[in-house]
Amino acid sequence: MTEKLPIGLSFADKDVRAFTDELRTKHAIVKNTSGEWILLKHHNVMAAALDHERFSSHVSRYLQIPNGLDGEEHTQYREVLDRYLTREALTPFIPVFKRVASELIAQVPKGKVIDAVNDIGAVFAVRAQCQWLGWPAELEPRLLAWMKENHAATRSGKHEWTAKVAEEFDDIVREIIQSRRIEQNGTADDITAQLCRETVNGELLTDQKIVSILRNWTGGDLGSIALCVGVIMTHIAEHPELIATIKTSSNEQVEAIVNEILRIDNPFVSNRRVTKCPVHICGQDIPAGAKIQLNWTSANRDQAVFDNNQFDPIKNADKNLVYGIGKHACPGQLLASLELRIALQTLLSSVNSISFVDGQPPEREVAPVGGYHRVPVILS
Ligand code: HEM
Repeated sequence: MTEKLPIGLSFADKDVRAFTDELRTKHAIVKNTSGEWILLKHHNVMAAALDHERFSSHVSRYLQIPNGLDGEEHTQYREVLDRYLTREALTPFIPVFKRVASELIAQVPKGKVIDAVNDIGAVFAVRAQCQWLGWPAELEPRLLAWMKENHAATRSGKHEWTAKVAEEFDDIVREIIQSRRIEQNGTADDITAQLCRETVNGELLTDQKIVSILRNWTGGDLGSIALCVGVIMTHIAEHPELIATIKTSSNEQVEAIVNEILRIDNPFVSNRRVTKCPVHICGQDIPAGAKIQLNWTSANRDQAVFDNNQFDPIKNADKNLVYGIGKHACPGQLLASLELRIALQTLLSSVNSISFVDGQPPEREVAPVGGYHRVPVILS
């Protein structure tokens, strides 16, 4: 911790995991080219995520429900929205996700090169989401194309492009909401239709609010699930002995294994906060109104907490920050865990090996995204 604080550090084209591993050996905090203070250590990321008084989530000028809300308003929305993501609410979808996974795995060619991220992860994420929300299957090509463009725009760091892509997603969601509003007197009773009838504080949710909610449920999640599948399949190709363990493990044990694989290589890199008052963190005096980045990927690999980053699903579980911590912790954790566990179990019930392809190593994603861009593998 003796070196001068790096300011104006560029993350462009960097593999976030490798770059933050290197930075963390010398610094607990760095400042990037956008003027964001990036917290790299586990205890600092946790402290800021838990300090809702001094670190606000109101980081964007766009409406973000519930992500961008603070205090009582945030709590009111979470109380309503969390009901859609409880075990009871999600249990009926377990057979649906199993069917989606089985059909996909049956379609994926065996003995030929496929890309784990795009051919399995992205397609499974889109199909599972469409089933959960009651969106038409015909949307699949449009959503897959959107995911690709969203990734490219995010990687480019070009604000106009990311704004345009976000608008395109909102258009898709608005069309679906319109159709549900028209069907309100009809029979539609899927999750999207239920959301269209939902009230918070006695007021019906407006279209603008529903778009924001669905954007936060799906927009980010589609990409995260696809990236998670890439990370999990890469880890298994590197550690084939895990296949037998997973095949004989309980559902809870498989979910713990998945969480630990994601801790070691967390593709959901970061979330932002803004300071509400001057704060002193990581030895730095930071003024009010400063932009802070909670870097989950780095915090999850902090050697001071995770002894040499040894794979240990049981020992590391309670410190795992893949789904965040505090009031904004991911409400979709159960849904994501179910989807990922079912996808993995289904895959391993029909293939005996996942092998890399000679001359085609997995390609890492670059900041601000984590995990892999492309993972060529052969299933057999
Ligand atoms: C593997 C997949 C996922 C990962 C790694 C992930 C990770 C996270 C993390 C780290 C946060 C904390 C944000 C913060 O502190 O600012 C978060 C929040 C959130 N996640 Fe997830 N998530 C995933 C999937 C999902 C799914 C499936 C949904 C919903 C269907 C979802 C909905 C949300 C929402 C709405 C928030 C904001 C909560 C709030 O601000 O109160 N996520 N997620």
